[in-house]
Amino acid sequence: MAQLLITGGAGFIGSHTCLVLLAAGHHLVVIDNYDNSSPESLRRVAELAGPGASGRLAVVEGDIRNAADLERAFAAAPADQPIEGVIHFAGLKAVGESVRDPLRYWDVNLSGSRQLLASMQAHGCRTIVFSSSCTVYGLPETVPIRETAPIQPINPYGHSKAAVEQLLADLATSEQGWRIARLRYFNPVGAHPSGRIGEDPSGIPNNLFPFVSQVAVGRRERLQVFGGDWPTPDGSGVRDYIHVMDLAEGHQAALDKLMKEAPQLLTVNLGSGRGLSVLEVVRAFESTCGRPIPYTIVERRPGDAAITVADPALASERLGWRTRRSLAEMCRDGWAWQNANPTGYGG
Ligand code: NAD
Ligand code: UFG
Repeated sequence: MAQLLITGGAGFIGSHTCLVLLAAGHHLVVIDNYDNSSPESLRRVAELAGPGASGRLAVVEGDIRNAADLERAFAAAPADQPIEGVIHFAGLKAVGESVRDPLRYWDVNLSGSRQLLASMQAHGCRTIVFSSSCTVYGLPETVPIRETAPIQPINPYGHSKAAVEQLLADLATSEQGWRIARLRYFNPVGAHPSGRIGEDPSGIPNNLFPFVSQVAVGRRERLQVFGGDWPTPDGSGVRDYIHVMDLAEGHQAALDKLMKEAPQLLTVNLGSGRGLSVLEVVRAFESTCGRPIPYTIVERRPGDAAITVADPALASERLGWRTRRSLAEMCRDGWAWQNANPTGYGG
């Protein structure tokens, strides 16, 4: 079993991935500055992973932009079992905020990644799984989207992700031995089926699933559906939603592949290949929670695409991974989390 460094491991996707990796027997060091998360998520991860797992989880409060903080994280691994690989989740992800404050996004996402890679290099660690996003494709010209589609982001968040992808490719060219996976996630949703960990956005959620679940639990009055005249079967936007536990398992598959094969640069979409409309999600959530989700159809949101769906063939071929969980499971698990934790980790 490997000793791994997980940046941003207290966050939504990171916490679920930590749980999957602990269950597989790995030893983890997490570095997180809790900018968008709570230490409570990792306490619950340790509890869910069962007896003995907490001894395999070290947590360092720190910032990936800070070399000294990263040194503390590398030093948290035992001397005879140094960090062999990194899964790099830490970053900022709100599109609107990135438009308002591009300097902060380039700082955390790009400078933070640069510092992390420099620290890895100094420690002779050359294996990294990076959280990229389908946002790098911008407004796709064809769907389903293949990995060979043009990289043409349309906002600072997307530009910062594309820049890190480029930096990773440059590094792989500059020096032999790098094992790199760039994972382009589509729309991660849901929660661990226990309802103990889940997504805990601060303020008003930007994304559909957390908004819908907050309406269901009574924290928000009604959903605004952004556009009812898209060129889609029911006029609402279509996305490729992926259960966060499927996504977590995708990271495990990518890491396993990197660690057992020759050095490589791997770039794959993590999605289901199946598009679901906003109204389909609303109906599925209503049937799960047994409550109506009031909604109003309003203007389109600037920057949105009509349809974003992954071609998941390459992930299946290269990682032997595909999504297994249905929309009903995304709603069931997301609702279990929201219903048991109406105010997230704060409640
Ligand atoms: P999240 O905000 O829940 O998790 C990110 C974590 O990184 C948080 O715990 C935060 O506190 C931490 N962090 C932020 N800045 C840091 C810093 N400077 N130093 C140390 N820790 C820092 O987000 P998430 O949804 O779990 O996303 C994880 C990654 O996946 C991000 O890089 C995001 O851009 C990417 N991604 C997310 C989505 C999505 O829809 N959730 C889609 C595609 C890609
Ligand atoms: N939507 C609504 N009402 C809302 C929120 C969203 O109708 O209150 C609609 C959107 O218009 C879109 C769909 O629901 O049609 C999904 O929207 P999200 O905001 O949940 O997700 P996006 O696909 O727009 O984008 C998100 C992140 C991106 C990331 C992408 C893929 O914001 O940064 O997922 O991971 F790239």
